[in-house]
This record gives sequence, C-alpha cells and structure tokens, in this order.
Amino acid sequence: MNGGSNLSCTKQVLQEAINWIDVDINDIFEQKCPLKMLDWEEFKIKILKNNSIYEVVPDDFGPLDLNQNWKDLRKYIYKILEKVAKTAETDFIRIIEVGSFKGLSTSFIGEACSNITEVYGKTCQIICVDTWLGSPEFYEFFGIDEPRNEYAHDLFLSFLNNMKLKGLDNIVYPLRLPSQAAAHILHCYQIQADVVFIDADHDYNAVVRDIQLYYPLVRKDGIFMGHDYDWKGVKQAVQEFLEKKKSLVNFWDKVIYFFMLKEQEEAIFFNKRTKNIFR
Ligand SMILES: C[S@@+](CC[C@H](N)C(=O)[O-])C[C@H]1O[C@@H](n2cnc3c(N)ncnc32)[C@H](O)[C@@H]1O
Repeated sequence: MNGGSNLSCTKQVLQEAINWIDVDINDIFEQKCPLKMLDWEEFKIKILKNNSIYEVVPDDFGPLDLNQNWKDLRKYIYKILEKVAKTAETDFIRIIEVGSFKGLSTSFIGEACSNITEVYGKTCQIICVDTWLGSPEFYEFFGIDEPRNEYAHDLFLSFLNNMKLKGLDNIVYPLRLPSQAAAHILHCYQIQADVVFIDADHDYNAVVRDIQLYYPLVRKDGIFMGHDYDWKGVKQAVQEFLEKKKSLVNFWDKVIYFFMLKEQEEAIFFNKRTKNIFR
C-alpha cells in the first residue's frame, strides 16, 4: 500500500473510530491528552465503550470464523500469563494485543485467561488494538475490490461476532484505531499492561514504531512479546531494540515468537496532560 492510501485508511478509520470513543480527533493528531483523567471503570465506558460495542453485531451475522491454521500460541501463552500472574499486584491481568484480525490469537489468550482465573483467581482484561482494515500486505496480495479480499470487508464485525461466540465479550475490549493513535490514548490514560503482544503491520518501520510506543506501557516484570519474528523487518526491529536494552530485559524466542521479560524498568507514559483543552 502506498503512502497516499495509508493516509486515507487512517482518515477513514479515525472518522469511524470517533463515533466510538469520546476523544477529540484533533487531540490525536496534535498529540494532546484530554485534561480529565479517567479511572479504569470510566475508561471502559467512555473510551472502550464496553457497554455497547458488541451491540452492532446482528444476531444472524454468521458462525464462528477463525479460519487460520496456526495454533502454536496456545503452547506458550498460558506460561506467559502464569509468569505475570505470579508477580501482579492487582487482582487482574491486563493484556494489550496490537493486531487482532478475526481474533484467533485473542481467543487463545482468552482461553488461557480462563485457566489463569481458575488457578490464580485473577481476571483478565484484553485490550485489542486494530483498525480492522487489514495490513498493507493484505492489500498487496489481493486488491481491495476483490470479493475474496475478506480483509477489507466486515472484518470488525467478524471479530466482534467471534468474540461473542467464544464467550469472550466480557473480557475483550476492542480499541479500533491505528496502533499509533491507540498508543496515544493508552499513554494519556496511563493504561499499564502486564503483557503486550504485537502482531500488526510487519514492515520494519511499523514494528520500530510499535515497539517504541508499546514497550513503555509494560510494567516491571511484565512481558513484551510478538509474532512473526521470522519476518525480516520484525527481526531487524526487535534486534536493534534489544541492542539498546541489553541487560534491562531477559530475551528469548521460539522461532516465530519473541519474548522480553522487562526485568529492570517500570512502565513509562508519554504525553503529559496539557491545560488548554475542553472537558
Ligand atoms: C497479522 S494480522 C493479526 C493476526 C491476529 N493476531 C490473529 O491471530 O489472527 C495483522 C492485523 O493488524 C492490523 N493492523 C495492521 N497495521 C495496523 C496499524 N497500523 N494499526 C492497527 N492495526 C493494524 C490489521 O488490520 C490486521 O488485522
């Protein structure tokens, strides 16, 4: 996808998103934070719209549609959640997933969460960041107007429907924005995560940006992880970041996944509140 269509995607998604969240679109472009801080309960209602977001799915939308065949996240995610459950000082574990598509990885995370809740008594909050417009590579493989380009059509409804059918709509909170805009919101409201899982745009520059924006949200002893570590751009971006962090993280990989245990640093939030804003 060239720069021009990326920009129009961004505008289209931001226009749509503005119907969902209660943040002035100009704040996102100008990188300002709304003056009023929200606690989690307020954030859930005002920004994540958790009371109403699933209502847009028609009852007859269709059956479960998680048609990808990679299942290996199942092997690792329980252990990851267990690791953070043991050090979490809260009675919940918060996961931010960047790149959810139809919700396959989200559903594996959600299933692992149910087990964690049973064993450790901690509930989960899974915030899913996605435009639900597909990644640039999806448009390169199939044209946007081709009917078989499922990536461009009804992806968001499909995700919501899948989460409902999986019984995860009570713990999965979609945040439908480009990752950069979503990060701005998450930093403004100081939404700290126990785990961040990155699986969005796999181009080198996009991965560099997502790492820079989302790694700081992870709490000390939390985990920053990602998929498709075998992609050239992903690996390069992760390795360059590791060079800078060196002894601050414990790093390991499982060929297509990478994991960083954030051993030495606390979460950091960007975007200080400014005074010249409404609300
Ligand atoms: C590889 S897919 C994610 C696969 C997903 N984890 C799963 O289990 O099926 C990438 C997703 O990232 C989203 N995406 C790509 N670039 C993005 C961006 N800049 N901001 C937000 N979402 C993005 C796409 O819409 C797509 O749904």
